[in-house]
This record gives sequence, structure tokens and C-alpha cells, in this order.
Amino acid sequence: MEANMPKRKEAGKSLRIKVISMGNAEVGKSCIIKRYCEKRFVSKYLATIGIDYGVTKVQVRDREIKVNIFDMAGHPFFYEVRNEFYKDTQGVILVYDVGQKDSFDALDAWLAEMKQDLGPHGNMENIVFVVCANKIDCTKHRCVDESEGRLWAESKGFLYFETSAQTGEGINEMFQTFYVSIVDLCENGGKRPITNSSASFTKEQADTIRRIRNSKDSWDMLAVKPGASRDEVNKAYRKLAVLLHPDKCVAPGSEDAFKAVVNARTALLKNIK
Ligand code: GTP
Ligand code: MG
Repeated sequence: MEANMPKRKEAGKSLRIKVISMGNAEVGKSCIIKRYCEKRFVSKYLATIGIDYGVTKVQVRDREIKVNIFDMAGHPFFYEVRNEFYKDTQGVILVYDVGQKDSFDALDAWLAEMKQDLGPHGNMENIVFVVCANKIDCTKHRCVDESEGRLWAESKGFLYFETSAQTGEGINEMFQTFYVSIVDLCENGGKRPITNSSASFTKEQADTIRRIRNSKDSWDMLAVKPGASRDEVNKAYRKLAVLLHPDKCVAPGSEDAFKAVVNARTALLKNIK
């Protein structure tokens, strides 16, 4: 039996699973869980000390699912406590705050922490990950947009939801899809079900969109040297257009990236004799 496979009480009927929350301190992990389990929101920040544990029951199709939720503290101080809890997990709720770029950039480090703690025999492939882009109610402070978050999540084969623990937006939908995916995984012999989105764009497309997003000027965007010729600019443009054309590329953010490339080419050609 796979190490991550949950214990079944009665084959085909009830199922016991373990899910954990992960992400920087103060991104809203505890509030997301509270919103779903207790239908309420607490605006005062009460940092989780180490781990909070809770049990809940949910129904997925004909199965009753007993969910053990381990809500982890995001503060680095609690690393030693957290690392006891990564193993035997079927689902991870990975949270960042859309108004805190650091918390988004930290997602890779969270995966690395989990991977390290699971050790060489740990398998992250048979765990369902759902990424929550949380605090979408704070529109004024938003600095990580939907396509950036979705691109990161979907290029890893993770689910992605925009959530607000404060208003409740996206929370039920997120948990419902998350639990259904975990049950699908359990019924699929412990293999993560292939989502449509994970198979629909390439790593090259995802990396190119990210590179374009972070480029410092039009030369950089087209990946040509400053002072390049018309031919070089056109050649670089054509290569990117083929890769990112909205008819061919469904990666989140591809439409904006394509438009940016068109504009960069126009701007450069204006100034090249
Ligand atoms: P640690 O336990 O320290 O790791 O933090 P956490 O990720 O569990 O954060 P927590 O859920 O305690 O929320 C942190 C703060 O953000 C609290 O003041 C919450 O009220 C606030 N908060 C959480 N979710 C939302 C949200 O969706 N919108 C807004 N506006 N505030 C939120
Ligand atoms: Mg907490």
C-alpha cells in the first residue's frame, strides 16, 4: 500500500483523510478553515501556535469522509513543530495573501520544506494541492493578479481558487473541489487525477509568460540585445507569437503576454531605421 493512502474503515463507503494547511504567517489559513467549518470570520489576528487540530465530516458522492485537519503555524519559529506533521497527508491547502507578494514568492519554499521533511521516500505526486489566493476582498492592496497565481498553480498541476475568508467568496467551492479530488485520488489508487488545465500548456509557455511579466524593457521582453536590427526583432517576435498566440496557448496570462509582445515589437520597430 502507498505510504500516503488513507485508512479505510469500510471499503467503498467511509474514508478517513488527513489535510494540512501551509503558507506564510498571517495569510489567512486559520480563517479559511474557520469560515468553512464554523461559518464565521474573526478579524483580530490570533497566530496559530504550532498546530491546531480539528475533525470534520463531509459527504462526497456516496462516501462519508472524515477529515482530520492540521492547521499549521506559518511563522518560521514553528518549523520544528510543523515537520512532525507533513507525513501521511492526502491534501494540502497552500495559502498566500494576494496583497503580499512575499507570501506568493514563498510558496516554492513551502513545497521544499514539505519535500525535505518527507525525505527521499516521500511522494508529493499522490497528494492533492489546492492553492488559495486569499484576501481577494482587499482589492486596493492586491499585487499578485489572478493569472500569475493561476499560472504558478496550474503549471504544477495544482488546483487554484481565489478566496476571501472575510466574505466567504470561493471557500465552499474550494473545499468541495478539494475533497472531491482527494476522493478521486484515493479511488484512483493514490495517483493524482489529471486536471484539464495541467495538461493544456507547456512548461516553455509558462516560463515565457513569467519571463515577459518580469522583463525590464521592450528589448528584454523580446529577448534581443539593445540595438538589434529589424530582422532580429521580427524574428524574435515571430517565435514568441507562435508560442503565445491566444489561439494556441491557453496558459493563464497568455493573452496579456501576447499583447505585451505585440506592443514591444511596435515600439522597437518605430525607432529602428
Ligand atoms: P498563522 O497562524 O500565524 O500562520 O496565520 P494564518 O495564516 O492562520 O492567518 P489567520 O487566519 O490567523 O489570519 C491573519 C489575519 O488576516 C487576521 O487578522 C484575519 O482576520 C485576516 N484575514 C484572514 N483572511 C482574510 C481575508 O480573506 N480577508 C481579509 N480582509 N482579512 C483576512
Ligand atoms: Mg493560523
